[in-house]
Amino acid sequence: MKRSMYAGRVREEHIGTHITLKGWVGRRRDLGGLIFIDLRDREGVMQLVINPDTASKEVMATAESIRSEYVVEVTGLVEAREQANPNLPTGAVELKVEAITVLNTAKTTPFEIKDGIEANDDTRLRYRYLDLRRPEMLANLKLRAKVTHSIRNYLDELEFIDVETPFLTKSTPEGARDYLVPSRVNKGHFYALPQSPQITKQLLMNAGFDRYYQIVKCFRDEDLRGDRQPEFTQVDMETSFLSEQEIQEITEGLIARVMKETKGIEVTLPFPRMKYDDAMSLYGSDKPDTRFDMLLQDLTELVKGVDFKVFSEAPAVKAIVVKGAADHYSRKDIDKLTEVAKQYGAKGLAWVKYADGTLNGPVAKFLTDVTSDLTTALHLEDKDLVLFVADSLEVANTTLGALRVRLAKELDLVDNNQYNFLWVVDWPMFEWSEEEGRYMSAHHPFTLPQEETEHELEGDLSKVRAVAYDIVLNGYELGGGSLRINHKELQERMFKALGFTTEAANEQFGFLLEAMDYGFPPHGGLAIGLDRFVMLLAGEDNIREVIAFPKNNKATDPMTQAPSLVSDKQLDELSLQVEGADQE
Ligand code: AMO
Ligand code: AMP
Repeated sequence: MKRSMYAGRVREEHIGTHITLKGWVGRRRDLGGLIFIDLRDREGVMQLVINPDTASKEVMATAESIRSEYVVEVTGLVEAREQANPNLPTGAVELKVEAITVLNTAKTTPFEIKDGIEANDDTRLRYRYLDLRRPEMLANLKLRAKVTHSIRNYLDELEFIDVETPFLTKSTPEGARDYLVPSRVNKGHFYALPQSPQITKQLLMNAGFDRYYQIVKCFRDEDLRGDRQPEFTQVDMETSFLSEQEIQEITEGLIARVMKETKGIEVTLPFPRMKYDDAMSLYGSDKPDTRFDMLLQDLTELVKGVDFKVFSEAPAVKAIVVKGAADHYSRKDIDKLTEVAKQYGAKGLAWVKYADGTLNGPVAKFLTDVTSDLTTALHLEDKDLVLFVADSLEVANTTLGALRVRLAKELDLVDNNQYNFLWVVDWPMFEWSEEEGRYMSAHHPFTLPQEETEHELEGDLSKVRAVAYDIVLNGYELGGGSLRINHKELQERMFKALGFTTEAANEQFGFLLEAMDYGFPPHGGLAIGLDRFVMLLAGEDNIREVIAFPKNNKATDPMTQAPSLVSDKQLDELSLQVEGADQE
């Protein structure tokens, strides 16, 4: 029989009609002869009733044989429920079953098909198709589809052209590690999967497309975290002849549209703008969560004269005040925070508790002379806990920034229904990489330097500022963009500043430099991390929850076992040899 409708969409208006439904058996309950079955499909759950007084023997027998997750087809009459269930959209009705067919059976599932399960992450990924049957997962993926639909409509209206760019591209090692793909035809040569379509979208501007977008997979071989996957999706945009403000306005419009259409939330535009330096000094982060205060305070000068070398001799001493938390944090709890601080490079974490007008704690004795100055500077109130880091300014900022976020979570200071978008602007062009022992691009080497600082490309690289902007939501970097370099001479100076010889720059980016000889227009754009955006809209804290088939934190897929060893024949064809492969 042809299906009449989705089970989850049956309502009171259908009472008295005969319908056919197809779906999965959620639960079967036998109550004094009556059999109740929850039938589930992608739109919800509907109650089926099999009454031994009216049902045929055959129907009864089939109903009794049915187990959870069997696939069934049922036909029957929609009736009003005696006791309506107000928590269920179909709660006012039930289906009196007249015919039932088992379309397929199912083994007992490794975890229950319901929301809020405690199954191990790898088990969920190994049986992802079962995991995705769970209503909350289905809802997340539906939300994702709604978000992309809304984005496409918006960008189409603004006459952005959707263009596909290649996945087999040239490796340009600047940024994260590339995923490489060996070429069979060109032995010993490799393609790279794109970390983003950055250069190709710029070339589309040179081609005169004026406005481009693509909802596109990107690939980065980097350490995984809750908000990072090896393959992820960007809403990638590029425009010609627009100012950074105009690009930001288009982005704000896009976000406002998505918020309205998917969450029914009207966001206030424009979003606040914060300079990178302020974000670092006040929040200790380039992606500040502004839903709560606990701002970083600079005490370097105030403690210069104290008899505690850790403080008096440090390049920077900074602190956060955890309001009213003195009694919530024992020494042991603070020891745990100290461990966190050390992970961020701090040598220690000093603390005092303020009570009855005095400071208490192991370092309080060093601060007696400055108690009143401290109390005033930090606006201390009874039961406040103060945490200090004395170190380089950078370590003090990032350590306290991380503690700030952790404490807010522990103390439940954040409102999860609040969406604080903001722009972080005025970025440094370069950041020092300890690992590489050199300056690297904070964004990428195609970012336009601010004109007033351009001369520092041949001077102090720490002083070069970029026309770059990141969009931040609730402490996450949602997206980033910039105006780009469109003149060859400036692009060559940028590569030189990054340490490329002329030959190396030509070898890797010659095609881009050449394109700049042919009327490259001024241009700029931005990319939003779609997975992160949907994760935050869904109220999840891992992007895996909004990706249908993600990798685990070892970058493997427990279901297909990818990545896997390949046959010697495949390797031979590619002229590859593998040494010391993990045999698992
Ligand atoms: P960027 O590298 O900042 O910029 O990336 C843009 C956004 O993509 C998301 N993102 C990720 N999401 C999940 N997993 C990952 N591994 C991952 N890496 C990045 C983030 C990030 O803000 N081409 C430039 C954009 C431009 O300048 O137009 C770019 O890729 O949300
Ligand atoms: P110490 O004098 O080394 O025993 O340290 C006294 C207190 O200061 C301890 O609580 C340490 O964790 C803390 N401390 C040590 N170094 C630093 C630092 N660089 N910044 C903040 N606190 C520190």
